[in-house]
Amino acid sequence: MTATIIDGKLFAAGVRARVADHVARLKEESGITPGLACVLVGDNPASEIYVRNKGKQTVEAGMHSFQHKLPAETSQEQLLALIEQLNTDPSVNGILVQLPLPGHLDESLVINAIAPEKDVDGFHIQNVGRLATGQEAMVPCTPLGCLMMLRDLHGSLSGLNAVVVGRSNIVGKPMAQLLLRESCTVTIAHSRTKDLQAVCRQADILVAAVGRTKMITSDYVKEGATVIDVGINRIEKPDGKTGLVGDVDFESVSPRAGAITPVPGGVGPMTIACLLVNTLTAACRTHG
Ligand code: GUN
Repeated sequence: MTATIIDGKLFAAGVRARVADHVARLKEESGITPGLACVLVGDNPASEIYVRNKGKQTVEAGMHSFQHKLPAETSQEQLLALIEQLNTDPSVNGILVQLPLPGHLDESLVINAIAPEKDVDGFHIQNVGRLATGQEAMVPCTPLGCLMMLRDLHGSLSGLNAVVVGRSNIVGKPMAQLLLRESCTVTIAHSRTKDLQAVCRQADILVAAVGRTKMITSDYVKEGATVIDVGINRIEKPDGKTGLVGDVDFESVSPRAGAITPVPGGVGPMTIACLLVNTLTAACRTHG
């Protein structure tokens, strides 16, 4: 078997086009333009690129983008004051504070200061709890993007064995919650899991979100399984340039899997597309 390669770039372009259509209709019918505020503290180069791309795609979808770039030495009080201002600003429907924050800032306190209905990252404790208890929630963008691709590929996911490798709050845990909501039988595996290969080989759906370059080889994969690679690992190539590789060893796994997301061009583009979806959802919920 040679795996179907899931084209996340194409899929994300479709999602962005649908968001742009909906935004145009909202503007025409109700005079509302959704707005997304991104807050970046410090000068982490990777974060700067992410935030710039988020702003660009927000504008391309027809929404307002508000970018707040603060110096690395910004105090907790200053950051909380900005969040409070954004919470009460009616032109802002979504607020995203780019992580990681500089070490002197308390990430959890900052995230939980965002109004839950504007928390388009889905990291606020209220949204985490709502997702876990099956209530309407803002869902973290990367797992939401993975779920959209899985639904498109499989239709119903009910009864499938899903193994999520990685237990982060941003990807692993919410991914597991979403798959459980789809009636999968879900296992969360991690660095301490015993016989990880055998656990992964049970998976009809294998989601790799560990941050370890090419860790998932064909020995971890059941014949015909769907493999979703969330890893974005920067490596130096032989020519000295940097490249991106996933947590999955694509060359070894793709002949065995039924379907697989490549890196780059798989899950990555879906994350910002889902951020736009969440911002639109937040605007629609606010305006009824
Ligand atoms: N840093 C890495 N991924 C993310 C994300 O999804 N949201 C935010 N806010 N920061 C991140």
